[in-house]
This record gives sequence, C-alpha cells and structure tokens, in this order.
Amino acid sequence: MCGVVGYIGSKEAAPVLIDGLRRLEYRGYDSAGIAVLGGGKIVFGKEVGRLVNLERELEKNPIAGMCGIGHTRWATHGAPSQANSHPHFSSDGSIAVVHNGIIENYAELRDELAAQGHTFLSETDTEVVPHLIEQALKEGAASPAAALRSALKRLRGAYALGVLFRDEPNTVYCARLGSPLIIGLGENENFIASDVPAIINRISEAIYLNDGEMAALYADRVEVCTMDGEVVTPVVKKIEFKAEDAEHDGFETFMLKEIHEQPRILRALLAKHVLADGSVDLGTELSPDYFRKLRRIMIVSCGTAYHAGMYGKLLLENLTGIAVETDLASEFRYRDPKIDPGTLIIPVTQSGETADTLASIRMAKEWGCRIFAVCNVEGSSVVRESDATFYTDCGPEIGVASTKAYTAQQMAFALLALYIASVRGDLTPEKLQEYLDDLREVPNAVHYVIQKKAEIQAIAEKHHDGPSSLYLGRRFNYPTALEGALKNKEISYQHAEGYAAGEMKHGPIALINEALPVVCICTKTADEVYEKMLSNVKEVEARNGRIIAVATEGDTELSKLSDDVIYVPSVRDEFSPMVNVTALQLLAYYAARARGTDIDKPRNLAKSVTVE
Ligand code: AGP
Repeated sequence: MCGVVGYIGSKEAAPVLIDGLRRLEYRGYDSAGIAVLGGGKIVFGKEVGRLVNLERELEKNPIAGMCGIGHTRWATHGAPSQANSHPHFSSDGSIAVVHNGIIENYAELRDELAAQGHTFLSETDTEVVPHLIEQALKEGAASPAAALRSALKRLRGAYALGVLFRDEPNTVYCARLGSPLIIGLGENENFIASDVPAIINRISEAIYLNDGEMAALYADRVEVCTMDGEVVTPVVKKIEFKAEDAEHDGFETFMLKEIHEQPRILRALLAKHVLADGSVDLGTELSPDYFRKLRRIMIVSCGTAYHAGMYGKLLLENLTGIAVETDLASEFRYRDPKIDPGTLIIPVTQSGETADTLASIRMAKEWGCRIFAVCNVEGSSVVRESDATFYTDCGPEIGVASTKAYTAQQMAFALLALYIASVRGDLTPEKLQEYLDDLREVPNAVHYVIQKKAEIQAIAEKHHDGPSSLYLGRRFNYPTALEGALKNKEISYQHAEGYAAGEMKHGPIALINEALPVVCICTKTADEVYEKMLSNVKEVEARNGRIIAVATEGDTELSKLSDDVIYVPSVRDEFSPMVNVTALQLLAYYAARARGTDIDKPRNLAKSVTVE
C-alpha cells in the first residue's frame, strides 16, 4: 500500500528521503510528502500525484535538516489531494506522522478528539495519530515516547508509523502493528522503511520490527521496546540481495527486467533444491514423515499468487495422493471453511504482507494447522508467522505486475510435488529422475521464448487496440490463461478474461467475432487434452475469432487455424505453464507499451495489498 521512510544522521535528510520514496513508489503513487526537523522546527513538503511533483516543489523550496520522515501514498481514506497527503500534524505542528495501514477506529477517535477541541484538516484515518499523541502530552504524558505509547494503545487496525517531535530534534520514532517496517542500520546514521529496496543502497544490516514494537532512532543507536515500554533486544539480519537488484539494469522497465531474470532464477531454484544424488530437498523443517502422513492441503493466496496456487493444486494432486484445495484468501477468511488441524496450509505470496493471506493463516493457526509458506521476502509477516517457508529467491520484485515471482512460485510447486511424491513412494526413483530431467529443460525453454520478444511485440501491436480479449487454456494451462488475462488487465487496461476452454461453449463463445482477440494456449500434451483444446480453437475459428495461439514448436496444425502463433519449445505438459506464461507476460507487456500505459506503476494498483 503506502511506503514509509525515515532518516537520522549527518546527511541532509530530504535527498535521502526522496531517494527512498522513489524506490518505494511501486507501493503507491497517489501523493508524496516529507517532513524534516531543522532549525528547531518541522518543515515539510507534500504534493498530489507522482513523486516527481514533490521533487519539483522541493527544488523551488528546499528544506534543510538531518532528521526526517517521508511517505508515498495509496489512497484508502480520502481521495488523492493535498490535504489528504502525508505527513499529518498535531494542531500546533510540533508532531508529524506518516503511516502505512488502516486505523479502523479512527472515526470514534476523531469524534472524541474533536470534542476535546482538535480540528482535522483531512479525511484520512491517519490524522488522528498526531492529535492523539498531542492530547496525551496535554494530559501529562511523561515524555514524547510515553505519549506515543499511550496513543498507540488507542489505535485499532494496522500501522507502520514514522513520527517526528519538534521538541526531540535528534530522534525519529517508529512503530509497527500489522504493516511491515524495517529499521536500516548505517554508520552514524539510521533509517526506517516499509521495504528493503528503499534503503538497499545504504545499508547491509536491518532489524525487522515485530508487531507491537516501537523504536527510537538516533544517529548512533536504535532503541527498541514494546508498547508497554519493555526494552527489546532486536535481531539484526544481514540483507542478502544487492542494490543493483533494485535497479533497472539497463532495461526500460522493471517488468521487462524481471521477465528476463526468470531463466536465471528458475535454474538457481533447481540447483538449490535438486541434490547431487538426484533427490529433492525443500530445505524446510517439515519432516518427510509429516508429508507421508499428510492427507489434505489447502492453498490460500490472492491475485497472481492465486493462479500459482491453482497450478500447485493440479500438480500436487496429479503427482501425490493428497487431496488439495485452493482458495482466494479474501473468500477463505469469511466462508467458514471446514479445515481440520491435520490440513497443511500453504499461503503463496510474493510480498509476504498481503492482508487477506496473512489473516487466513492466522485463522488456520488457531485451528491448529501447520503453515508452509511459499514466499519471496525474508522477514516478512507471513514468513514470521509460518512454521516453514519455501523461498522463491527472486530478489526484489519492483514491477507491480508480478512475473518472476509467479514462475518461481510454479517452480516451487513443481519441486514440492516431486518431493512429496518421492517421500510418499508415489513416484519411483526412476520416475522422479524422468520428471527432474524434464523440469531442467524449463529454464532454457523460458530463455528461448524471451529471445522471441520482437516477434511477440509485433503480434501484440497488431491486436492491442480492441476493447477486450479472451484467454483459453485447459488443465495445467487453465491457470495460465487466467494469469495471461490478469497481466493484460493490470498493465494495458484492456478488459481480458481467462476461461477454461471447455467452458467456452457454455457462455463466452457468444463474445466471439472478428474483433475479439482470443489467446489459445494449445501446446502439445501426451494425452487427449491437446485434441480437446484444438477443437476449442476450431470452434473459435468457426466464428471468425481473431486467434493468437501459443503452440509447440513445429505444430503446423495451429498455424492453419490462427491469425498469429507464438511457438514455444516442447516441454512436459505438467511444466509447460512456466514456458507458456512467459509468452503471455511479453504479449501483455508489448500491448501495454503500444497503449502507452505506465507499465511499472499501473493506475490504481499497488505492489503489496496490506489492507483488506
Ligand atoms: C499481480 O501482478 C498483482 N500485483 C497482484 O495480483 C498480486 O499477485 C497480489 O496482490 C498478491 O500479492 P502477493 O503475492 O504479494 O501476496
């Protein structure tokens, strides 16, 4: 959602804060603002829209000081406007606050404070925080820290906060409940940030603040305590990835860079999890015996990660004798699912901070379930609340439209399914090697598809202008159709629908005419599914639909039926979704490029949905 940063040290804070916000802008870009403590007062700048608007304003009116906080907004309470932009202040301007999350009881707090004479300038939930702190000071709180603690105890909901006190010039305060917050440790300087990429170029060690903790940052030290003031000895973690991982690296967008990173990431996951003796090692605490006795798996996730979960269900059920369900986390948490404690819950999440996924695993833990996360961010909330985690090791994914995390999640499920099948004896060692040999072909096949990007670009530019498009796939590639459609929606703003091809005749076939691009994923299979898919393509062709087929290299049958064909290398059907989706990522990418949208920061979207 929003991005929060903070700095205290010997450098001018404004440029450090702006650089951090630039690296966090994928989290939200409705407005941006900073507040800096200098010359005994808090000075600030905030502007609606992209960060560049604030930068321009600060060029005209620079602000000085070596201690500050900053914010980039994804609007929840109150439309993007100057007044609703962060930071927000107390009545006398002596307290400044930036916030990521939602204060659920803000309305009643606002009424209470208004009755005590406080005036509110914005529609936001956040603005109650500086006024609560101010009221606590008025009512005799012993110190700014004590006033902050008492204010925090009144808040219900989720927050990552950065706080400045005019009367504490050398301190940045922060607090966390539900929303992610990191403290970056530097040489005589310290930072706060919603996510590591914001400060990756300035630190190599960080503290992942836990729920219910707050901290005071000074230039030379950091003090962490609970909301009750109990001192906490924080765990300092080394940051694994490098600054350039969060840079464009010569690509025009992060999304295009991240698409190109997929072959390397998939190879690295295979190298890490397939041992020299040909066995698969998940690198988790869950024992082989646990998986032998396992009877049921429930996969919960959102968005693109949900499509990875759908693929995981198909593969796990196909290779192991375990019953697997998958559900949208936002539905799972309210549908009163019948889950017994023996069920393994697998949350799939790139960020590890998605609110609905997090809430789903908290419910499942209350029911006594084990949690095995598939996640990309070490130290994230989902990771810290899970019994074990399979890391997708993608490095930071900055493009809002997820790509490399998706194929890495698919690889995670392939390795998980093969591991479980082998420890349960559902797969003989010979059969396991056969599958692993086929899986090892995937990174090269993905690389091959990426090399065809110019061809895919030409196809995208031919078909991008319609009001809508349809994506069709069967079995393992039904989720691929859903994901292809989602990518197109997210970045090119063209309505697109993914559909199980066998379902087409039960409705969407009515949509087909010569203006509607229909993307058909029709790669070869060892069984009759290919023929079934081919018949669906013929049904579209019979109604003059505009067919863009994803086909196996050398399949001339499809070139006869289609307007355009994207040929991909032949890989095992179970693993073909990782290859086929790469073609669809590029198709959506170049459609968006032709439509001139902001590919890395699509409108209304944010990289991590930390509120419900
Ligand atoms: C995908 O491109 C989107 N960014 C979105 O659907 C995303 O997959 C969803 O919000 C889940 O995010 P997560 O993987 O970080 O939990």
